[in-house]
Amino acid sequence: MTRNQKVEEISNRLNINYIYAHSVADRVTGDNYIEDARRLVIDKPKPFVKWVGGKRQLLKQFRDLKLYPPEKFNPKINRYFEPFVGGGAVFFDLLPRQAFLSDLNSELVVTYNVIKNDVESLIKSLKKYKYDKDFYLEIRAKNPDKLSDLEIASRFIYLNRTCFNGMYRVNSKGGFNVPFGAYTNPMICDEVNLRRVSESLKGVEIKNQDYKEIIKNAKKGDFIYFDPPYYPVSKTASFTSYTKDAFLDKEQIKLRDTFLELHKRGCLVMLSNSDTPFINKIYGEIEKFGIKIKKVDAGRAINSKSSGRGKIKEVLVINY
Ligand SMILES: C[S@@+](CC[C@H](N)C(=O)[O-])C[C@H]1O[C@@H](n2cnc3c(N)ncnc32)[C@H](O)[C@@H]1O
Repeated sequence: MTRNQKVEEISNRLNINYIYAHSVADRVTGDNYIEDARRLVIDKPKPFVKWVGGKRQLLKQFRDLKLYPPEKFNPKINRYFEPFVGGGAVFFDLLPRQAFLSDLNSELVVTYNVIKNDVESLIKSLKKYKYDKDFYLEIRAKNPDKLSDLEIASRFIYLNRTCFNGMYRVNSKGGFNVPFGAYTNPMICDEVNLRRVSESLKGVEIKNQDYKEIIKNAKKGDFIYFDPPYYPVSKTASFTSYTKDAFLDKEQIKLRDTFLELHKRGCLVMLSNSDTPFINKIYGEIEKFGIKIKKVDAGRAINSKSSGRGKIKEVLVINY
């Protein structure tokens, strides 16, 4: 059996995408490789934070519509880039062997790197955090600029697990301002998953950079997934405060130009955004270069008022 047949069999029998199937195939040998592969898949790491705009629920739809992952991508030679990584749902779905991740949220990036390099200290530290409102307010009030990386990562995971809706929102000065959330016994320290995440990040580069920096290294054949802060669907529904800088018309156009530049470089590019006239217009302008705009359903709940919840369409822009 050739390696490609083995990857295909693992992918079909375990119902996993072929990029992840490549990584799994590298780690299993012998006659019982399907059973070994099944165990690896059961133990697959998952995102360690809840992140607004997380793509987990959408991935099955992307796959069913055959929009993802791009068939032409060869994970043995080419690399994966996720410049707006957030919770990293797509990275954790693909688990490519060579990946470059970035985000402008510095506390999030510190957390990824602490998990990667010092997961046991993090687990030990997180076990001291408790689900209690006064304790929460005390931790929230701390200034991350004055904390060590280990303290930043512990505080970040703790706040994410115990704040209202797992949101990340900062005020104009960059201070985290999400209220305490009501949960029954929230899991603050998921040590099993943190260890799995740590293992999956070995060899992965995670930087606190603007998206334009990380993609400078992208070459022909590399796969890039852009999941930027979405263009607001309406004035009231606007949610662009992952960082203290907004990501509006000018930034969206610059990102569109970057998409086109990478397309011309021969990269495989996929981008998510809201289904708004503005986003359709700016990507419509580059359809003549072979770029496609696909509509997908998104069950998004970013508005805390129940009347604002509901199904919103999204666009997935691809060049393959
Ligand atoms: C829609 S979220 C990504 C969600 C992610 N795909 C997930 O599954 O959780 C957008 C992310 O982009 C980050 N961001 C905003 N502006 C950025 C920039 N200029 N460069 C890099 N990251 C940026 C935000 O901090 C946020 O984490």
